[in-house]
Amino acid sequence: MIFTILTLFPAIFESPLNESLLGKARGKGLLEFDIVDIRDFAADIHRTCDDAPFGGGAGMVMKVEPIHSAMEHVREGHGKVRFVLLTPHGRSFDQETALRFSRIPHLALLCGRYEGVDERITTLMDDEVSVGDYVLSGGEAAALVVIDAVSRLVPGVLGNEASPTDESFRQGLLEYPQYTRPREFMGMEVPDVLLSGNHEEIRRWRRKESLRRTMLRRADLMERFEPSREDRVLIREIMEEME
Ligand code: 6GU
Repeated sequence: MIFTILTLFPAIFESPLNESLLGKARGKGLLEFDIVDIRDFAADIHRTCDDAPFGGGAGMVMKVEPIHSAMEHVREGHGKVRFVLLTPHGRSFDQETALRFSRIPHLALLCGRYEGVDERITTLMDDEVSVGDYVLSGGEAAALVVIDAVSRLVPGVLGNEASPTDESFRQGLLEYPQYTRPREFMGMEVPDVLLSGNHEEIRRWRRKESLRRTMLRRADLMERFEPSREDRVLIREIMEEME
């Protein structure tokens, strides 16, 4: 899968795409990252890419022509490219969107600056996404979030780790608590069941703790969740423990 990143701050991407999972997948040729400096496509000697908003007001707005030229350049080198604008007024990026994006062979992410981009740029885009209800100073950190979440769904990227479909959000629940050595730390002990070797009990305990966490922290996920017969029993137990 190819990710093209269109940004005014290419240096931001120097290290994060070369470390850990992404760096390894890149090394294996599973992922390719092309960083495009929008400034290289500005028309004037000052390489101007933003300007004051029509109608007045604070902040600067990203100009449409440099971005359009950069997009043409990206398209020239390749076949079909899907363009996604990262902006706080995009649709919420979630695991479902990540899965959809992971099936696109070439995704181009345009990092908007917080104050905004000329609205006419949005007509050139296939999608607009936001990574959450808070303010980032630009789309760069958001692009890294999207790349990370999408990449790990690309076949081969996770290697022989558990399939990503085993993970929390695919099932609509948060993950259960994990522990490793030592068995006791500052008086806090690892739950006995995890040391019992009883796989069925461990599985049940983990399911219950996933449910407990989701109930306590994410009522929004719980509302959409469809419990199995066992889940209903576990939920009842959790409710009784809270009385
Ligand atoms: Cl994609 N961009 C900016 N600037 N802020 C955000 C965002 C994106 N998603 C959440 N906040």
